[in-house]
Amino acid sequence: MADSGTPLMSDVFRPYEKLVEITILGKTFLVPERNSLLRAFQFISPDTIPYGRFCWNQDCQYCRVDCQLSDDDQARPILSCKFLVSEGMSISNLAPELIGCLRNKLGKTAPDSESLPEVPAIPIAPRDEESH
Ligand code: FES
Repeated sequence: MADSGTPLMSDVFRPYEKLVEITILGKTFLVPERNSLLRAFQFISPDTIPYGRFCWNQDCQYCRVDCQLSDDDQARPILSCKFLVSEGMSISNLAPELIGCLRNKLGKTAPDSESLPEVPAIPIAPRDEESH
């Protein structure tokens, strides 16, 4: 069921039929399937994520997280603007910009951004660009 009072918010999400469960620093959230993880963060915190310094375009890396999928053996760094959410995804570390934006939702589990190890930079593959 969509939140009431936010009619425009549904426009930013890709169509979804159900919510999937993900864990962020040990806290569980329900987020819309078929959307990027950064959109899922926006679903969780619609008042802060749109005002974060996110490019939404795989350039700034302010959206990096360490993430473990349900069938992974260990966490790996990903860009949340690029990666789609999936059931059982577990986020064990977030870039400081995300921690700042999600702090009010993470409550006591939100660490100081200085106390977390930095999420490693992710090499960005060159994009295919039009040649004209
Ligand atoms: S939001 Fe900039 S790289 Fe993901």
